[in-house]
Amino acid sequence: MREPNSRLDSLKLMGGSALAVSCRAPAAWASTALPSLDNLARAKGRRFGSVIASGDCLGGTVANGGYAQIVTSECSRLVAENEMKWQALHIAKGEFAFDRADRIAVWAQSEGLTLRGHALLWHRARWLPDWVNDFDYGAHPARAAEALLVDHINAVIGRYGSVVASWDVVNEAVNDAADGYEETSLSRALGSVEQVLDVSFHAAGNATPKALLVYNVYMSWEPEYAGHRKMVLHLLEVFRKRDTPVDALGVQSHIQISRLDPHTGLGPYEEKAWRSFMDAVVGMGYRVIITEFNVRDSALPTDLEVRDAKVADYARRYLDVMLSYPQLGDIMAWGKVDRYNWLQNFAPRQDGLAVRGCPYGSDHKAKPLRTAIATAPMGAKQAS
Ligand code: XIL
Repeated sequence: MREPNSRLDSLKLMGGSALAVSCRAPAAWASTALPSLDNLARAKGRRFGSVIASGDCLGGTVANGGYAQIVTSECSRLVAENEMKWQALHIAKGEFAFDRADRIAVWAQSEGLTLRGHALLWHRARWLPDWVNDFDYGAHPARAAEALLVDHINAVIGRYGSVVASWDVVNEAVNDAADGYEETSLSRALGSVEQVLDVSFHAAGNATPKALLVYNVYMSWEPEYAGHRKMVLHLLEVFRKRDTPVDALGVQSHIQISRLDPHTGLGPYEEKAWRSFMDAVVGMGYRVIITEFNVRDSALPTDLEVRDAKVADYARRYLDVMLSYPQLGDIMAWGKVDRYNWLQNFAPRQDGLAVRGCPYGSDHKAKPLRTAIATAPMGAKQAS
């Protein structure tokens, strides 16, 4: 795996004005004296990182001084929340809008942070632009779809390849509801989802031979994902059989307490099945990354102290398993501060209170979840 260049020479980036920070709210950041999560991760050869966005100072963005301070203090790697997705970048065939993703790339560089790329292809119609969903692939659909996909990947890697060491090449190609693959106009035109994956990974490998190429999944150890786990293992086997250049499995790790197991008072989880899954993944020679860590707390009681303790307990159990694998690399949080976390919209609590699934609360103060991450054993040193 290659570390990115320290300069963005190859990018025609926006001018310095793009970096202007529009607000510098004083951060109520409470852990200055503690070793950062990244320092703790680095002691075992890993990196700790977070998602960040490019909008205004009201979000989890580079313009929000308080948020940015937490991110720069705790992390050495960033991932753009939406800005590098097809929908955001490739707005019409061959027409790209790079400014928002550039802003994150420039900011990361100015802060000395590296980037993960997310995602060259999110293989769900819902997250592709309409023009792709409605695309007329003409008389030779497979050829046209391949060209569209390869052009997209080349353009994005052409723009950010010098600063991205690790790419989610394909995100979410498996559909657990249908217990099969997620189809899109691309897979229909190319003939199969496996063909889409093959084309995507080969294109990425050709465009950036030294970067870590990742297939990213949303399921993890919850019982409802047993079928999805099976499909992912099948897919990982297919990659190996077809010599598809996939280096790592990205496990998003939006772990869930969306109902309660009466024995633990936490969300149900299948540790044994999850370990077997992970054993099979690393047994095939894949590395693993936690790409989008946070915790859904919808089934937990209102009481903040109880809720925070249980979120931390659940997360710690999960991290203990994940960190026991020397094949585990980066640990990326999908947000560091509750207030800006996507779960507030995606999985809101019935009582109307904020979901408390990030290491920092909406007041920017560290919570027990941060302690759980910081005191997790960070496991065996990452194998290089
Ligand atoms: C989410 C963003 O956080 C939201 O802002 C957006 O509306 C939808 O996408 N899995 C992924 C991420 O791979 O890209 C998703 O991010 C969260 C789930």
